[in-house]
Amino acid sequence: MQTVALGESELRSTRLIYGCMRAFGTWNRDEMTPDRRREAMSAFAAAVEAGYNHFDHADIYGHGECERVFGEFLAGNPGLRDRIIITTKCGIRWAGDGGPTAPHRYDFSPEWIERSCEGSLRRLGVETIDVYLLHRPDVLMNPDEVASVFDRLHASGKVRSFGVSNFTSSQTALLQSRLSRPLVCNQIEVHPLRLSPLEDGTVDDLYRLRITPTSWSPVAGGRLFGAPGDDPKLSQLVRVLDDEAHAHGVSRTAILMAWLLRHPSVILPIYGSRQPDRIRDAVAGEAVQLSRESWYRIYLAARGVALP
Ligand SMILES: NC(=O)c1ccc[n+]([C@@H]2O[C@H](COP(=O)([O-])OP(=O)(O)OC[C@H]3O[C@@H](n4cnc5c(N)ncnc54)[C@H](OP(=O)(O)O)[C@@H]3O)[C@@H](O)[C@H]2O)c1
Repeated sequence: MQTVALGESELRSTRLIYGCMRAFGTWNRDEMTPDRRREAMSAFAAAVEAGYNHFDHADIYGHGECERVFGEFLAGNPGLRDRIIITTKCGIRWAGDGGPTAPHRYDFSPEWIERSCEGSLRRLGVETIDVYLLHRPDVLMNPDEVASVFDRLHASGKVRSFGVSNFTSSQTALLQSRLSRPLVCNQIEVHPLRLSPLEDGTVDDLYRLRITPTSWSPVAGGRLFGAPGDDPKLSQLVRVLDDEAHAHGVSRTAILMAWLLRHPSVILPIYGSRQPDRIRDAVAGEAVQLSRESWYRIYLAARGVALP
């Protein structure tokens, strides 16, 4: 796969990122059986073989077990760590974390960011995180405090670069205004069932600031494969996707990747299937050159409303 710079950093990511959130296919620890561990390892191996060089994690995925099983995968594949980019995230805390009455919340306090970072390094079994993201905007974010903890984590060699996730343009700008180095990405939800970042200025602002947009759930978390039921807009969208897939000789998944890849801001889709065949298949989207007409056909079906 082709690689591109992440933001203005020296890190070069493949056009598709492999998302590790569903590594076990469950968030229930009791269901994280040895079989599911092996399946997670097979999915990681398929992604490496298919050419993905960038793996997306978070401290919370599988309550830490997704990072842990990835650490085991790295330990079993000497030399791999130096050939890949590891992204992970912090800042989401579940209800009950920190005390029985603690609510579900976001926490960008320096203490929590540092503690979470230590936990991720330990579970992944690595010395450095390549890209460390703030997972969801904390309304109580103090950008000066975040800047100083980022500086400490960078100076100690624990984190190479930083980014954000699910940030609005103004939240990104506020944080960036206090940081000593440029944010490299904003990980946002954008796909045909979620067009708003393409229309509300989020992607425009990232493009302007040379911050890479990475897109989570590029196949809408599987919703673009479910039965459309009696949703005429979804049925029409699936029809158009399949027409384009047929015309280009690829799958619906590959067309969905191609649709995101076609955007000039250099969006990087984060694909999260656990199935080796699908992980390989998505890569075909990179070779598809969607014409403006094909791109707009999908966009119009996704909007469900004609352009003015
Ligand atoms: N920053 C954030 O807030 C945030 C939020 C969510 C996710 N993420 C990141 O984004 C990554 C991707 O998210 P995601 O897993 O929701 O993305 P996704 O790739 O849109 O969806 C994956 C889901 O769709 C199913 N699927 C994929 N291809 C399919 C196909 N060809 N036919 C039928 N079903 C198919 C998968 O099932 P199978 O496994 O059976 O193929 C899986 O359940 C995550 O791993 C995580 O790294 C970030």
